[in-house]
Amino acid sequence: MKYAVSFLLALMALMIPSLVESDKLVISGDTSVASLLEQMGEDFSAKKPKDIKNVSAEIGEDIIKRGFSKRGGLKKSKRQSKHFVCTSCHNVEREDPDLSVNDAQARLIYTDQQGLPFLQGTTLYGAVNRDSFYNGDYEKKYKELVKPARGDIREAIQLCAVECAQGRKLHDWEVESILAYMWTIDLKLSDLNLSEKEITIVDESLSKSDSIVNSTKQFVKDRFLTASAADFALPPENRKEGYDLKGDPKNGKLIYDNSCLHCHFNMRYSYFNLGNDKMSLNYLKNKAGKFSMHSIYQVIRYGTYPKGGKKSYMPQYTQEKMSDQQVEDLRAYLEQGDS
Ligand code: HEC
Ligand code: HEC
Repeated sequence: MKYAVSFLLALMALMIPSLVESDKLVISGDTSVASLLEQMGEDFSAKKPKDIKNVSAEIGEDIIKRGFSKRGGLKKSKRQSKHFVCTSCHNVEREDPDLSVNDAQARLIYTDQQGLPFLQGTTLYGAVNRDSFYNGDYEKKYKELVKPARGDIREAIQLCAVECAQGRKLHDWEVESILAYMWTIDLKLSDLNLSEKEITIVDESLSKSDSIVNSTKQFVKDRFLTASAADFALPPENRKEGYDLKGDPKNGKLIYDNSCLHCHFNMRYSYFNLGNDKMSLNYLKNKAGKFSMHSIYQVIRYGTYPKGGKKSYMPQYTQEKMSDQQVEDLRAYLEQGDS
């Protein structure tokens, strides 16, 4: 009996601190940035998946990577697009070394180190942490369609499914599943490159006054971009001369291998085949300086348009996705040939 009482007391003593701490988030590198911000009063509920039939993160991941899902007894649904999957144009991993800046060259190096492609679409990693979509000049391209999508991630997903991927509209359960998956690839505290000391300060501020909490919230939000800027760029006026910049062929090879070949190698997402052979490189080299639909300047800055019946097309690269310098680097690589 005596033992039982002291055991009970010991157990209670163990429980008390955990009861006190229970609704406070314990912060670590794996902590979701959104859940931290929620603790500070931010509201993400509108972006959370709705609890409707057939919704799961696994199904969302299938749709993003394969265009359909057969999980959970689903009959194989029709592929979302005949031409693409979401990952043709978007990574689902972190792609920037510093999430508070939008720097194409830093991204090229970082994605290369991670073994990731370098693409026209912004990564879907952390998409749920952003609050504006199809920013900047995308309004010019998709006009009225951008309005509902700009502030609404569900509409942004639908717009991309139909316009970018040139496929069918997604069912509600597919959109919600994509959102459920996106919540598994939301930003984590470790993505914000905070020092140990900064993490401790953030942690401690959670139990302080509203004004401290608010300034800490701002401090956290300043560590990542809540919108992916998009400025359309033009080809050089004189394509023979190119942009007035000296290209670096080594950097150009990274662009060719990690971007162009992602879609064109073995005609993966395009009928136009490219490889690392002399023929491909020479072809692009000879077209580069001409007013041709096959000039790199043309396809990089304007993309191509879906032609009647054959609805595949190449998305353009904005200034943020490929700088003029990088285009010139690519040209320098083509001119040098593979070596
Ligand atoms: C052919 C290329 C392509 C395909 C396929 C594609 N996208 Fe996109 N997507 C883009 C481009 C280009 C943008 C322009 C804005 C950006 O990402 O910076 C975009 C934008 C988006 C955005 C808004 C991103 C932002 O921060 O502005 C979301 C969300 C999105 N796509 C989801 C999807 C999903 C989900 C799929 C698959 C069903 C998909 N996309 C398929 C090219 C594509
Ligand atoms: C997201 C996938 C994707 C990426 C990345 C990509 N392309 Fe394309 N590209 C396409 C598609 C799709 C077409 C349209 C041709 C077709 O119907 O398949 C195309 C068309 C082209 C064309 C015109 C060919 C024609 O028949 O009209 C050229 C040239 C070209 N791409 C070069 C490049 C270069 C150079 C890069 C790298 C800077 C690149 N592409 C990156 C998908 C891509």
